Amino acid sequence: SHMTQFLTELPKCEHHVHLEGTLSPSLLFKLISKHNVELPSDFPSTPEALEIRYNQFTDLDDFLHFYYIGMNVLKDEDDFFQLAWEYFQTAATQGLHHAETFFDPQGHLCRGIEFETFLNGFTRAAAKAKQELGITSKLIMCLLRHLPVPDCLETIDLAHKHYESGAIHGLGLDSSEKPFPPHLFAECYGKIKDKFPHVGLTAHAGEEGGPEFVTNSLDLLNVTRIDHGVNSVKDQELMKRLAANRTMLSVCPMSNLKLRVVSDLSQLPLKELLDAGVPFSINSDDPAYFNSYILENYVQVHKHFGFDLKTWCRISKFGIEGSWIEDDHKKQLL
Ligand code: ADE
Ligand code: ZN
Repeated sequence: SHMTQFLTELPKCEHHVHLEGTLSPSLLFKLISKHNVELPSDFPSTPEALEIRYNQFTDLDDFLHFYYIGMNVLKDEDDFFQLAWEYFQTAATQGLHHAETFFDPQGHLCRGIEFETFLNGFTRAAAKAKQELGITSKLIMCLLRHLPVPDCLETIDLAHKHYESGAIHGLGLDSSEKPFPPHLFAECYGKIKDKFPHVGLTAHAGEEGGPEFVTNSLDLLNVTRIDHGVNSVKDQELMKRLAANRTMLSVCPMSNLKLRVVSDLSQLPLKELLDAGVPFSINSDDPAYFNSYILENYVQVHKHFGFDLKTWCRISKFGIEGSWIEDDHKKQLL
């Protein structure tokens, strides 16, 4: 329809997409064959059966179980390249202009894969996406919050030279939220902030956790962006703070629906965020697991909220303003 065309053409930036979350069932099964990977005996045996299981996630941890199994098929540099390149190609057809993409080093290092293997694969895909699709992108390394802090600190040491070279542009925090609150990672964030003051800091907060996870991420981790953050709406002081500081929330509508953070998209606090002046972007999170890439997220939000063109342009602008890019690059996107 004419609205789908408008939403396709709207300049979109995505700030919350896990490259490991772009592993389609078809690529997953291709790589199982390529590497002869052994998966758990109860793992669905066809892409179709896997998609059916993906439609039945009960919460974040139920999804993460499959997300970490999926990672096991990613072995050599070309696998990581292929993964990211397929994502960029799909997103390009949907009007994506700029992506700030997460990756989880610990999910690969723990399997004996070298940092350079996945980083080079991702970097090559990003260069090809820039050259052939005109999509700009940045890499944000995430720490897995269910792992011990010493493991996270070791990962930061391994990443040091890649922050120095500019290959990695940000730090994030993901995985199971509620049992692993932000204060645990204060030293990790402090290390990056001290050594690389220009690096963007963000953290998943307020997805399943309450608004105090958002407040503590701001206070203790010094983040300038919040991933998800939808539970911020339960704390009016926090809402004022997010608006005053123009702290962007990277909201993931279809993820929140599929992981049952909300039972219907109309429950997302998008109207509250707009009214309070809290900037947010719309994102796919793990598009292959939720069967919803960037445009589907925009289309479904439109179905449930029916925003006018002016509001859509305001949301598009939030995403450009909130991107970790130079001012002249922002002007090009506007
Ligand atoms: N890892 C991948 N997607 C995630 C999400 N939505 N929340 C926490 N960790 C994740
Ligand atoms: Zn996420």
